[in-house]
Amino acid sequence: MRTQVAIIGAGPAGLLLGQLLHKAGIDNVVLERQTPDYVLGRIRAGVLEKTAVDLLDLAGVSQRAHQEGLVHDGIELIFDGARHRIDLAELTGGKHVTVYGQTEVTRDLMDARKAAGLATIYEADVVRLEDIETHTPQVRYRQGGEERVLQCDFIAGCDGFHGVSRKSIPASVLRTYERVYPFGWLGMLADVPPVSDELIYAHTPRGFVLCSMRSKTRSRYYLQVPLSDHVEDWSDNAFWDELRLRLGADACRNLVTGPSLEKSIAPLRSFVTEPMRHGRLFLAGDAAHIVPPTGAKGLNLAASDVGFLHEALTDHYLEKSASGIEHYSKRCLERVWSAERFSWWFTTLTHRFSEMGEFELKMQAAELNYLVKSRAASSALAENYVGLPMRIESLLETCA
Ligand code: APR
Ligand code: PHB
Repeated sequence: MRTQVAIIGAGPAGLLLGQLLHKAGIDNVVLERQTPDYVLGRIRAGVLEKTAVDLLDLAGVSQRAHQEGLVHDGIELIFDGARHRIDLAELTGGKHVTVYGQTEVTRDLMDARKAAGLATIYEADVVRLEDIETHTPQVRYRQGGEERVLQCDFIAGCDGFHGVSRKSIPASVLRTYERVYPFGWLGMLADVPPVSDELIYAHTPRGFVLCSMRSKTRSRYYLQVPLSDHVEDWSDNAFWDELRLRLGADACRNLVTGPSLEKSIAPLRSFVTEPMRHGRLFLAGDAAHIVPPTGAKGLNLAASDVGFLHEALTDHYLEKSASGIEHYSKRCLERVWSAERFSWWFTTLTHRFSEMGEFELKMQAAELNYLVKSRAASSALAENYVGLPMRIESLLETCA
């Protein structure tokens, strides 16, 4: 089998790229190790920056995100028992974020891909990338007990943190940067109305809390927990009790509890790979970088990588220019590092670290106070939260 672009991974990065390339008339095949239901079963963050929504528009898959997504103009911070609103719109000249679950983004992309009749091979486990330094790379994968080969012009490694793509870049070229945090997030999804209209990020003596949502009737809550905790040991009641203890009576006034639809513990990590291209292999999304979820930058970064990759490949096929390909890694990494900085900072500011002494706790409190009292500090949070501006030529053309 042969295609122009072989895409490894049917997560949001791979599927969005496939749709954008299809719109530009560039042939592509997606190879995914899991089944569609398995991919849709993974619960991840749900806050979209404008650039991500613009890319969904460009791909023609944003109808439901516009209809069902919730536009949020602000977030709330809780610390020292008091609530503070960060007015994102007022601080950024009218910008906002859209709350729409990553699962729904993935579902919309899968539906669009199916409707367009594009080739997606599920339960295809990519085992090796070959000849990535030549003009004729190939992807070797196993499906139904048989080994097969997909020949292509380019490979898009959208196969997440545990995929094979990153490992195919020679060790002599690859550099990685990593920070692992000494705690995890215990997430719970429940069909109950959210405790508040806006997201709440809370710094409390018992650990961090995030109150988020998927819709006006479905809530998503997170508690900072030790990495040694096991999800089976957290009953629904234990979760709600701990949430109440951390948030306090005032913030819990409108809390509605109910049975969980899902509970899981995720570790927190900052991770960056450089470069993001080697020969004809491009890395995009979690294959290249991981952010801790505080601030919800993971999906947004995956989307911006895909924006730059779409530009690189349309430059190549439609403009006959190598400029986008040559600049891909640098363009992505500039944005990646700024989102890494923001996610690391927001995590460090809002979580309890066991190694923190009294001085560090006082510094955390002083910084939180400064954040809500200084317009400059609040603006820095707001502009990062809604997403720093980004220049993707194809988006500028559509928005013009
Ligand atoms: N062969 C085929 N598919 C593979 C292989 C392989 N060897 N290895 C991994 N995959 C698939 C996984 O099964 C998964 O469906 O690649 C896909 C990668 O998808 P994601 O992990 O969702 O990664 P990405 O598309 O980059 O999404 C980024 O997800 O984790 C969040 O914070 C992150 O929100 C961000 C988004
Ligand atoms: C979520 O809704 O899952 C979510 C929202 C905001 C975050 C992280 C996760 O910062």
